[in-house]
Amino acid sequence: MTQPHDGIDDRERGRLIAGLLAPQAQVAPRYFYDLAGARLFEVITLLDEYYPTVTEHRLLSRHAPEIGAACADAFGACALLVEPGAGSCEKVRHLLPVLQPAQYLALDISAEFVELALQSLRRDHPGIVMAAIAADLTQHWPLPAADGARLFFYPGSSIGNFTPDEARALLARFHAACRGEGGLLIGVDLIKDSAVLHAAYNDALGVTAAFNLNLLRHLNRLIGSDFRPQQWEHHAFYDARESRIEMHLRARAPLAVRWQSPATSGLAEGREFAAGQTLHTENSYKYTADAFSALLKDAGFARVRRWTDARDYFAVFLATTC
Ligand SMILES: C[S@@+](CC[C@H](N)C(=O)[O-])C[C@H]1O[C@@H](n2cnc3c(N)ncnc32)[C@H](O)[C@@H]1O
Repeated sequence: MTQPHDGIDDRERGRLIAGLLAPQAQVAPRYFYDLAGARLFEVITLLDEYYPTVTEHRLLSRHAPEIGAACADAFGACALLVEPGAGSCEKVRHLLPVLQPAQYLALDISAEFVELALQSLRRDHPGIVMAAIAADLTQHWPLPAADGARLFFYPGSSIGNFTPDEARALLARFHAACRGEGGLLIGVDLIKDSAVLHAAYNDALGVTAAFNLNLLRHLNRLIGSDFRPQQWEHHAFYDARESRIEMHLRARAPLAVRWQSPATSGLAEGREFAAGQTLHTENSYKYTADAFSALLKDAGFARVRRWTDARDYFAVFLATTC
């Protein structure tokens, strides 16, 4: 099977290399998701320490009828349900029976993985038109020009990968794309005891470490680099001041990395990393429920409802245009 990102254009390659050459080397978290990365993430969701997936599933399962009624009240029937970063398309299973959208669109950078997930979803819901769209949600969204209300479904606290300012801008894009009729159903991880957060990103089996290290293999395919995963270690911690988990890969010893220069087609460019120096691979911002409600309002949504679990670990928000 082909890997989703392997053919990147010069602009994307240039952006990736600029990130690697920055004083604090960095790679955007979307590069976690080649096929192996998507499968490793599936395993993460099964781990005892990783509370977000199971908590969000329970919230959606318990409150689906209420969510369906709130949507019907705000905008009537749902013509188009769009799930950016759909991944395994498992969470939408709670919503399809109550929303009965005419169309469901799973938009993901890793479209091959999503297309596999859609095969069984189509069998279970033959009356709903479904399609997988290969797109980067931070770029252009190729949505059909269907009439009627649109609901965006953005679970998994993926919004936490953006800074609060970037998150507000993305929420405003969701709002604008509703064209005055529809809303956004979004799952958000809440601020909690830092030990719980730390454990969720440092699981005992080392699956999150493997997920993080797999990014190096993906980079090697994308830019022809010679990262050796055994020279790096997983490093994740909670920064309470910024309310975010930071995930890094840390050099175990001094090392050098080279990659193909488009100019020479050889291994001519690269950089050195001192022992302990890191490559920043992900931020995962955590919010209070009130702060996230305010962000949704700032983004233009008129009405915000929310559901949280008994421990206040996770929240699902429904933000509508009216
Ligand atoms: C953490 S997983 C979440 C999957 C699922 N939505 C869930 O809640 O369990 C993130 C998903 O978003 C996709 N993704 C990450 N960055 C993306 C981007 N910039 N554009 C589109 N999809 C992206 C990944 O391929 C992956 O399937």
